[in-house]
Order: sequence, then structure tokens, then C-alpha cells
Amino acid sequence: QLVLDTLDKFGTIHDTRTLVLPGYTDPAANHDSQIIILGALNSLSSRDMISYTTHETVSHVLTPEGAQIAVQGSHEARVWQALPHKGDGAPMAPKQLEERVGSETAKIGQGRAFKNKWIAKEGDGLVRLAPSIEDNTQVELREVDSTGTLKAGEKALAEMRKRKLIVQRKGQWFTVKKGPAFSTSIAKPETDLTIDMLATGSWKTSTYKKYNFEAEGLVTNGGALHPLLKVREEFRNIFLEMGFAEMPTSSFVESGFWCFDALFVPQQHPAREVQDTFYLSDPAESLPPPADYYERVSKVHEHGGYGSTGYRAPWSDAESRKLLLRTHTTASSASMLYKLAAKCRGEGEDKSARSAAAHGSGAQAKEGDDGFKPAKLFSIDRVFRNETMDATHLAEFHQVEGVVADRGLTLADLIGFMRVFFTKMGIENLRFKPAYNPYTEPSLEIFAFHPQLRKWVEVGNSGMFRPEMLEPMGFPKDVHVHGWGISLERPTMIRYGINNIRTLVGHKVSLESVENSPAVRF
Ligand code: PHE
Repeated sequence: QLVLDTLDKFGTIHDTRTLVLPGYTDPAANHDSQIIILGALNSLSSRDMISYTTHETVSHVLTPEGAQIAVQGSHEARVWQALPHKGDGAPMAPKQLEERVGSETAKIGQGRAFKNKWIAKEGDGLVRLAPSIEDNTQVELREVDSTGTLKAGEKALAEMRKRKLIVQRKGQWFTVKKGPAFSTSIAKPETDLTIDMLATGSWKTSTYKKYNFEAEGLVTNGGALHPLLKVREEFRNIFLEMGFAEMPTSSFVESGFWCFDALFVPQQHPAREVQDTFYLSDPAESLPPPADYYERVSKVHEHGGYGSTGYRAPWSDAESRKLLLRTHTTASSASMLYKLAAKCRGEGEDKSARSAAAHGSGAQAKEGDDGFKPAKLFSIDRVFRNETMDATHLAEFHQVEGVVADRGLTLADLIGFMRVFFTKMGIENLRFKPAYNPYTEPSLEIFAFHPQLRKWVEVGNSGMFRPEMLEPMGFPKDVHVHGWGISLERPTMIRYGINNIRTLVGHKVSLESVENSPAVRF
């Protein structure tokens, strides 16, 4: 208002330092008042009510030490004052001088006072040499204090700055002119055009707040995919472009039958012990699986068949019925393969498996006389293991799993397929190592060379499913199925450079890192 009133009265303001803000009469407050005026000028000019130009000033102010000297005199003057005149009483011992003026002033002051020939040594003590002195430092500091500068010029100012007695202070002042929308009262500008304003016609005379195109705007809030979900999406895309169909994997709870028995995992296998598998207590037992299939599975375990001797160990119904948290998604693969073989068993179509197979394998997949139709299936979902948790292991993780069922598939098909699949993930350097799974023979562990770790790391487990698993399901002998599983967490950790699983999964995950993690592209 002061700016507007002054402009109204005089037309222009040549120098805003002449404006006296209410409560800012002290010239020492000038610096602060120019900052306040600048705020007002910016606000008025954004409304086109005024325009202004800025002028820079440089002045000097005293440091606390400078201010002390301005009042009490320089160290050297204080030393001189404390000493007796030469020949006028006993010289003063340095120790006594220190007590009188303080050790700092005694130390700094003596040096300068000797240089100025103000004092001299006499015996072990000190005396005044000059009969009178002029304390230039004090005089100059007082000048800076009241004028902000020195008549003696820049060289003297620089010397004072070097001695840390004064510092430069940049200041601003302004010249102000009326703008096109000048008025003595500040109309509150409209920020929105309302129906009311259109109806009454008030929009014609209203003033509007200008758009601020420099404003950064609010950060928009939105959901964000967890890094694991981004990597999952990338895997899904690889599977889909290779013609795979996704298996339903919503059943986290499975029976011992589907998780192990159907896969020809012996009932005494260590993986089935409580140390490795979480069992349910309520309900503790599953509904019975299809009776004749159950019969064939228990038989191949206990007595063999399909060219196998079996395990020749007693079969336990109770073990088979136990409900558990699935330890691998191969449990879902087993039940999907069982459904896929429905027609081979002479049963009616099982819609879910057949449509998945049809969708996945496309036009080249033809159904044979025996009712078999090739299929490529995948899943990416959660599995649970009763493990000791550490930096890289949790009791639950995700498995990426694929199975391919076709006539006459060989180990070479599996290896060739793995090379294509992993190449799509950017992993080209693969090695295969013979391994053991109860449900596959042969089995292969897949190793990849890790360029950062500079070593071979295990990236997956795979194999050709055994006839003891496939034939009780009803698949013809010439139908072979290969499968493989990899964890979702490991490539995710490698991809995002995470070395503790807890920064990726669980309550310690920072939401910020989830929101900011880049999309993944293998
Ligand atoms: N089920 C195996 C695992 O948990 C992975 C696998 C799937 C191996 C299919 C062979 C065939 O590691």
C-alpha cells in the first residue's frame, strides 16, 4: 500500500530506500526493509500494477570483533594504554600485561604495537615509547559502521576484510513506475471463471490472476508397481510371446497328493518334513483326489509299474491327504497336466486345461487320435518353505515355472528351449549341470555367468518329467513333458542391485523406492 500511495502522489519512486516502512525507521534496518519491499514489488508487478528495476549495492558491516574494536579500541591501542610511559614507573612484566588486557589482546596487540613503534622492551618488561597514539583501526571501523564504506577507498576496505573486522554485504534497491493496471487499491484477482461471473457479466470487469507457467505443480499421487511385479510382467511377456498360456495358481494350499505324490516324490522324502514344509492344522486334511488316478499313483509309488520298480515302501493315505502350503508351483503344473490328459483317459473335455492349451500353442497344435494335444503352460506365483530366513531367503517367494508337453520331446529340446528363453532375458552364457529331482529324469541345474559377480550362479532347475508321473495321468508313452522353475526374487535383486531380500519384500520396504524403481527390461 505504501508503494501504491507513494506512486499515486509522485508518479514514480526513484529510490525505494527513501520509503520508510512502518516500524523500520532505523537506517540499519534498511537491508531488511528492501527485502520486504521486493516482495511487495513482485506481487504488484505480477498484477501489472507497477514495473520496477533493480539496483545492486555493496556495503560493509562490522564483524563481532570489528564491533568490539569500534567501541574499545584496537588490540595494539589497548596494549599501549595499559603500559607505563618510558621512565615513568617500573616497566610492566608480560605476565601482568596479559592479566590486564587478556591473553589474546596481549598477544595480537604487542606485535602490532612493536611494529608501530608504540611500545618498547625495557629489561624484562614493556613500556610506552610513543607519547601519544592515533588508533586508526578504531577510527576507520567507526566510519564503516556509520557509512558502510571508507573514504580511504577499496585498498583499506580489503585490508579490513582480510583482518576479518568487516564483511561485504550485498544490497538492493529499486526504482518503481506505474504499470498498465495501476490502481491505489489491490483488487483480489479471480482465479477461476464461475457460472455466476458469466451470468452477471462480471467477468468483463474482473481482474484475473495470471497463469504462472514457471510453477512446478503438485506431484501427482498414484499407485506404483512393486519391482517384483515389474519383473513378473517382463517374464509374462516373454512367455506370452513364446506362445505359452498362463496356468491358474490361486491355490496356495495344496494336498500332499498334488504337491508331492502326483510328482512321484516319495512319501519319506526330506522335503516333506515339517522343517521344509508348512502343514495346516485346520483343516488338516484335503478332500480325496479322483479315485482311480489316486489308485494308480499310490500303486506306482508302492509297487512300481510303467517300467519302474517304484519305491517299494508302504503307502500312507494320511500323508497324501495332509494339507500344506505349496512348496513349489509344480503342484499346480501337476494338476494342470492331469487335466490336459483328460481326453487321453477317455474322459470328457476339461475346459480350463484344453482352452489354455489351445490358446497357448496356436494353430500348429493338432489333437491326435489318442486325444492328446500339445501344450505350453506357465505360471508365476508364490510358494512357501519352512526355511531359516537370512539376507537372501524368506519363508515365501515366487516361482516362475514353465512346462511344455509334446510328442517325442528330448533333452536337446529342453536345452535348446532354455537357451532361447534365457536369451530373451539377456542371459546368453548358460551351462547345464546334471542334478536330481524325484519327478524329473534327467534333471538339469541351469547356471548363468554373472558379469558383475564374475562367477557362475544357479538360475534355475529343470528336467524331463518321469513316466512314473505322466503315465498314471493317462498321457500316451510318446508324450514327453519338460519343465523348469526359477525364482522371481533372484533376477529382481540382480536387476535392481539389491543384496538384502528384506529391502525388496516385507515391512522394511521403503515405499519411495517402490514408487521410484524404474521399469525393468531384460
Ligand atoms: N519344482 C522345481 C523347484 O522347485 C523346479 C522344476 C520345475 C524342476 C519343473 C523341474 C521341472 O525348484
